[in-house]
Amino acid sequence: MFTIAHLSDPHLPLPRARAGELLSKRVLGWQSWRRNRRHIHVPEVLALVQADILAHGPDHIVVTGDICNISLPAEFRAGAGWLATLGPPERVSVIPGNHDAYVEVEEAAGLGLWRDYMRGDTGEGVPAVRIRGEVALVGLSSAVPTPWFMAAGRLGEGQLTALGPMLRALGRRGLFRVVMVHHPPYRARGGWRKSLSDASRLEEVLRGEGAEMVLHGHDHRAALGRIGEPARPVPVLGVPSASARADEHGHGAAWNLYRIAREGEGWRVGVTVRGVAAGSGRIETKGQFDLLVEGARQAGISNAA
Ligand SMILES: [Fe+2]
Ligand SMILES: [Fe+2]
Repeated sequence: MFTIAHLSDPHLPLPRARAGELLSKRVLGWQSWRRNRRHIHVPEVLALVQADILAHGPDHIVVTGDICNISLPAEFRAGAGWLATLGPPERVSVIPGNHDAYVEVEEAAGLGLWRDYMRGDTGEGVPAVRIRGEVALVGLSSAVPTPWFMAAGRLGEGQLTALGPMLRALGRRGLFRVVMVHHPPYRARGGWRKSLSDASRLEEVLRGEGAEMVLHGHDHRAALGRIGEPARPVPVLGVPSASARADEHGHGAAWNLYRIAREGEGWRVGVTVRGVAAGSGRIETKGQFDLLVEGARQAGISNAA
């Protein structure tokens, strides 16, 4: 049994910015933070989620991006500090989101500060493979600076070309392959301005080589989808923002716990959805279901609750 906690889009509080730092697309994100996002993404909620995750003592923690808001150097420093409170790089895997590449930032002052959480076992960049027990975590980066008013993502030829052979090799070793990508691997609700522009290419690779699970963020909504034939789908799971205050419908921060265990020739993944209860400072179980994975491919989804 191997357990993974999956959280996403914490959007840590925006630190004070110097006027000069806002002379770019950043000014839009800064205004959006001042106007409404700071009322949605609250550190108290993130602290609750984090405490709940740590209380479950997962073997590994996956953060699927958007730790920042407008990619200020101070946000990357705060992000590094926050990651250290989640756990050491050996037990925490991070991929960047579009808000972590809001504008071009020098590596040393930006994503470089989180490199130990993102690199593969042999120090490689994306696709980054980390093997923990029988689980292979494959990190992709869909985070690229985009023009104003855009939140789209792109993997690019390099990652897409490398991914296929990588998944094939990991599949041959009989590992449980978890692909991590910030943007959902299909067209997002927000349309092309917010979507992964080469999602269809990624889908092709996943259909062709298979994966046991795809984890994403970006939509700030819980999601369970699939890629591939209905008989052998690759399950795709998204989680809401880990810092979102619960609204009147009870939609707020949540995280997923995956319990991955061998079953016969395949796998069983017990999924527990933990989220903030409406009108309270508590985290409760919102749902539970099992995913059944056959061999190197997914065979079906059962017991949806
Ligand atoms: Fe986000
Ligand atoms: Fe995002």
